[in-house]
Amino acid sequence: MSIPTDDNHGPLSDEDLAKPLTYPVDAFLSKEYLDKEKELLWPNTWQMAARLEDIPRIGDYITYNICDESIVIIRTAEDTIKAYYNVCPHRGRQLISTPDDQNCVRGRKKSFVCGFHGWQFNLEGENIGILDEEDWQGVLNKSLTCLTPVENLDTWMGWIYVNFTKDCESLSEFLGDVDRILSPFQFDKMRYKWRQWAVYPCNWKTAIEAFMEPYHVAGTHTQLLKYGKYYAYSKPYGLHGVSGFDEKDASQKTSQSTGVARAGLGDPRISTYELARENYETVNYAASTDTLVNAAKRLQDELPEGTPVAEVMAHWMASAKADDAARGVIWPEITPEQQAESGLAWSLFPNQTILHGRTFALCYRVRPYGDDPNKCIFESYALERYPEGEEPQTEWVYAEPSSEKWGMVLAQDFANMEFVQKGMKSKGFRGTLPNPHQEQKITNMHRHLARVLEGRGQPKLIKKS
Ligand code: FES
Ligand SMILES: [Fe+2]
Repeated sequence: MSIPTDDNHGPLSDEDLAKPLTYPVDAFLSKEYLDKEKELLWPNTWQMAARLEDIPRIGDYITYNICDESIVIIRTAEDTIKAYYNVCPHRGRQLISTPDDQNCVRGRKKSFVCGFHGWQFNLEGENIGILDEEDWQGVLNKSLTCLTPVENLDTWMGWIYVNFTKDCESLSEFLGDVDRILSPFQFDKMRYKWRQWAVYPCNWKTAIEAFMEPYHVAGTHTQLLKYGKYYAYSKPYGLHGVSGFDEKDASQKTSQSTGVARAGLGDPRISTYELARENYETVNYAASTDTLVNAAKRLQDELPEGTPVAEVMAHWMASAKADDAARGVIWPEITPEQQAESGLAWSLFPNQTILHGRTFALCYRVRPYGDDPNKCIFESYALERYPEGEEPQTEWVYAEPSSEKWGMVLAQDFANMEFVQKGMKSKGFRGTLPNPHQEQKITNMHRHLARVLEGRGQPKLIKKS
C-alpha cells in the first residue's frame, strides 16, 4: 500500500508542517534529482564555504568545492576577503589543484602561478605575467586574463558564505531570524577544537538529516536514556529550522531546558553532571566544555539535597561562568528568553548544522560527492571559546567513521545513515512518515528544496485512509 496523499493542496505553510506529511525518496536516490541540485540549488543558494580562522593572515587561502565547482577564498588585506573561481583563464587548469581525497586545500601565497604554463596573478586576481604575450596580437586585456571573482561573499559569526548568483538576496535576508537568535552566542569568538571529515556512503541529505532531530535518541543512542528525556520540538524559521528539547507537560519547561546544557533525570545535582559528562565524553568532547563538566561535578558538594532544578541550573551556570572568567574566557550575555528560543540545534539551509552553547558549538556540513547520489563528503567540527592565544592548532583530519575516531554517539549516527540510504531503495518502503512535531526541520528543508527544484520532492499532506 502506498501512502495516500492530498495531491491538490497548494504550497505548504509553516502551519502545514505540523500536520502528517510525506516526501518522496527520489531526493536521496535519484541521479536526476542530484543533477537538478547541481543545476538549480548549489549555484543559487548562500552556502557556508569556510571559517575566517581558516585564513587568518594576508595571503592565506582555502578552497571550497561544491559539486563540479571550485573556488579559492583568500585574505587580501587585514580586513578583506576575496573569492575567485579556481580556474586559470588560459586553458582552464585549476589554479589550486583540489584532489578528490581532500575536503579542502589551504595554504599561503604572495601571488598565484598556474602550474600549466605559468600565467601569474596577484592577490587581487589581476594577471601579472603571461609568457610570450605578444603572440596574441594584442587581443588580451585585463578583463580576459584576470581571475573571475565569485559573485557574492559575506561573513556571519566567523563563517564565510558565498553565493554564485549575481543578483541574489543579501546574506542577512537569507539568514532572517537566525541572526537575531544565534548571534548572541558569538560563534565568531570561538575557534576550532577539532575538525574531521569522511567520504560516507549515503546521500548528503540522508547524512545531514541524521542530525536534525533528537527523536532518534531513544532508538539510536539508548545509553543516553538513563540520563535524560529526549522529547523534542522542531520548527521552521524561513528556510532554516530549530529543534529543542520539549516537555509534554508545559509546566516543566524552563529557559534552560530546551538546549544541551540542561538537567537530567532524578536529583538534578547529580544528574546534571552525569548528563553533561556522558554527552561530552561520547560526542568526541564536543557539545560542552571541560569548564561546564567540572562545574557540574561540584554541584553535589556545593548544593544541599533537594535544591530545585532551576536553582541547580542557575548555580551551575554561575560557577562555570566564574571559572571561565578566571581563565580569561568571558561568556556572552544571553537572556533566558534568548536561551529558550535558541533551542538545541539549528539547520541552516541547505547543509549547515549548529548545535550551540555559550562557549561551544558542534557543527556539521555535508556536500554531495561527485555524481553519485549514494555518497557524500561529511564534515564535523567542534568550536570552543578559548583564552586569547590558547586556541589549539588544528587541521582537517580524514577520520574513518568509527567510535574510536568520532566517539560513540557519532558512530551510532553513522551506523544509521548508510542503512537508511539502503533501506529507502526497498520496493517495500511505502514512503517517509516524518514525525509532525519533532521532525519539522526535515519537512521544512524538503519544502524549500522542492521550491528551488521546480517542485521535485514536494512534501504532501497524508490523507486518512
Ligand atoms: S592553463 Fe594556466 S597557464 Fe595555461
Ligand atoms: Fe544522533
